[in-house]
Amino acid sequence: MSIKVINVVGTRPNYMKMAPLIEEMKKYPRDFSPLLVHTGQHYDKEMCHLFFDDLKMAQPDINLEVGSGSHAQQTAAIMVKFERVLMSYKPDLVMVVGDVNSAFACALVARKMRIKVAHVEAGLRSFDERMPEEINRRMIDAMSEYLFTTSDDDNRNLLNEAIPRKKIYFVGNIMIQTLLKFKELAQKRKILQDFKLKPKEFALVTMHRPENVDQESTFLPILKALRKISKKLPIIFPAHPRTIEKIKVLKIERCFQEIKEYNINNPRGIFILPPLGYLDFVNLMSNCRFILTDSGGIQEEATLLRVPCFTLRDNTERPITIRCGGNILVGTKEQRIVQIVSKAMGKGWRKVKLPKYWDNQVAKRIVSILRQELT
Ligand code: UD1
Repeated sequence: MSIKVINVVGTRPNYMKMAPLIEEMKKYPRDFSPLLVHTGQHYDKEMCHLFFDDLKMAQPDINLEVGSGSHAQQTAAIMVKFERVLMSYKPDLVMVVGDVNSAFACALVARKMRIKVAHVEAGLRSFDERMPEEINRRMIDAMSEYLFTTSDDDNRNLLNEAIPRKKIYFVGNIMIQTLLKFKELAQKRKILQDFKLKPKEFALVTMHRPENVDQESTFLPILKALRKISKKLPIIFPAHPRTIEKIKVLKIERCFQEIKEYNINNPRGIFILPPLGYLDFVNLMSNCRFILTDSGGIQEEATLLRVPCFTLRDNTERPITIRCGGNILVGTKEQRIVQIVSKAMGKGWRKVKLPKYWDNQVAKRIVSILRQELT
């Protein structure tokens, strides 16, 4: 009898983690019947549909279409709808990736219905409770039966929380597997030509964390730092819907220019554009001089691509990216950001030593463990 697995995605950073897992399960049709459920937490073309095309992923079998709301509204809406899916499909396993509200809501429903949960990217900890994701991570890990980790830090974090060792499997970094697969294809995209950008002659910025953009007291100092940096090197900023919304609320649109205003002869400023698909974004990451970001996954992707990464946060749940030389935490204070970036770029970037299991075998490791355990 094949194992019925419900795989959950909900937001932009989920798709590249789930794609290789489903592909690997489909190699064993006698062992696995995978179903893909999209919660609908992210629903725009740019935040969702572009990714299915780029990653050549089959469309979700079920879309819960929950959309936006407060944390409680979103989590509750997912739970109610996901419970119905579990009642009718009766899976053996629910697989969640990462730390977004969708993963937490679905893990909770499954666990209460005594359905096993597998968590891919278990054990990441920022130890910063201001991040809703940190709460989600702890809760998902506490509810999971199979915890697939990306590094020794994660193993240690889980053991410190009294998670039994036998539930923890160190398998490597699934998002890196996807990047390894697609990075050459991404180079063929024409986004540099489309925007008249020259390789290594721009910096790339992403910023969307609520603790950075929701409060003026954090957002404005970061923005001032970006403005200073952009006087020397143009900044390309594909902006998340949350950030666009805050820019409007704070009435600071004048600090930004539209990407169509980019002028190769006088390329100074912060140029904003809509969120990009996966391949276009990977292309920009590979070709920029450096990245400033508050994203989790981009710290790892930049490390693999050996592009200098400066993280606009005081902590990271991915400390391995710092230890291996790929990432520097610059915090959120104007002066500190500008100083660290200029100093690091003046000296030339450090030599990066990639962590163990950042390879193309991660999905294989996970699926083979599940086959062993569940068949
Ligand atoms: C979520 C995740 C975060 C992840 C991020 C990546 C949680 C707690 N947070 O944050 O970990 O890094 O996704 O993008 O789950 N919106 C749109 N179009 C969309 C999606 C969202 O306009 O397709 C708007 C929503 O209406 C909302 C805002 O963007 O106002 C934020 O969306 P939300 O899903 O609440 O969280 P993110 O900030 O995207």
